[in-house]
Amino acid sequence: MIIEIKNLKKKFDKNLVLKDISLTIEKNKSTIILGRSGCGKSVLIKIIYQLFNYDSGSILYDNKSGVNIDKFSMLFQYGALFDSLKISENIAFTDYINNKTNFNKKVLSLMKDVGLEKSTFNRYPSEISGGMKKRAALARALYKNPKVIFLDEPTTGLDPINSDKINDLIIKIIKKRNITAVTITHDIKSAIKTGDNYYFIEDGIVRDKGECNKILKTKNKTFKTFISGGKY
Ligand SMILES: Nc1ncnc2c1ncn2[C@@H]1O[C@H](COP(=O)(O)OP(=O)(O)O)[C@@H](O)[C@H]1O
Ligand SMILES: [Mg+2]
Repeated sequence: MIIEIKNLKKKFDKNLVLKDISLTIEKNKSTIILGRSGCGKSVLIKIIYQLFNYDSGSILYDNKSGVNIDKFSMLFQYGALFDSLKISENIAFTDYINNKTNFNKKVLSLMKDVGLEKSTFNRYPSEISGGMKKRAALARALYKNPKVIFLDEPTTGLDPINSDKINDLIIKIIKKRNITAVTITHDIKSAIKTGDNYYFIEDGIVRDKGECNKILKTKNKTFKTFISGGKY
């Protein structure tokens, strides 16, 4: 699915978070949204996902203004598994809450895809590691075969080695399944590794955009400062 956003504006009371955002999420590509904490990245993807409304501008999904969000899936920041449910029940959450019981085969196949051992099937989130929880959250996001997946800081809280593993896994899965991916991160290394295109947001507008493999060659001053971790 191609998603085209034009002149999007969003405020919460007096807090003008997104001033004028225009960007295109290309079909079956991995688009990265970069920007400082609090710049509105999560708000932006929640608007695209239709969890929030917006004040003005337009969003077109395959050239239409409406979309069935069953095609979408989101890996929320911090992964948020339900502590009282087993890993398998978390992965099959939508079926589980509807009292469906024949999901074991599908769950096991997804667990294999994301590199979760069978032994975690009946475990609870508190009994597995942070990296394993991310894998389980990813499996849950994939459960409904989304056409578009939104990943909000998928490597938050992981050490560099586990972050690399999760990034590798994400690329493998989105390429194999032809999923359109939108990933939020403030980690340049992850952006270069997992993305096709990037958009850098600051002060409510897109300050820079381009191909992820050219990030380090950007001429944009604000983005350069961001990359070097500088403050201003
Ligand atoms: N539900 C909400 N109600 C009011 N303000 C919100 C809400 N969600 C986010 N904001 C505000 O929007 C701004 C951007 O937040 P967010 O998109 O979470 O930033 P980030 O880029 O770190 O993901 C912040 O100032 C935040 O306080
Ligand atoms: Mg956020």
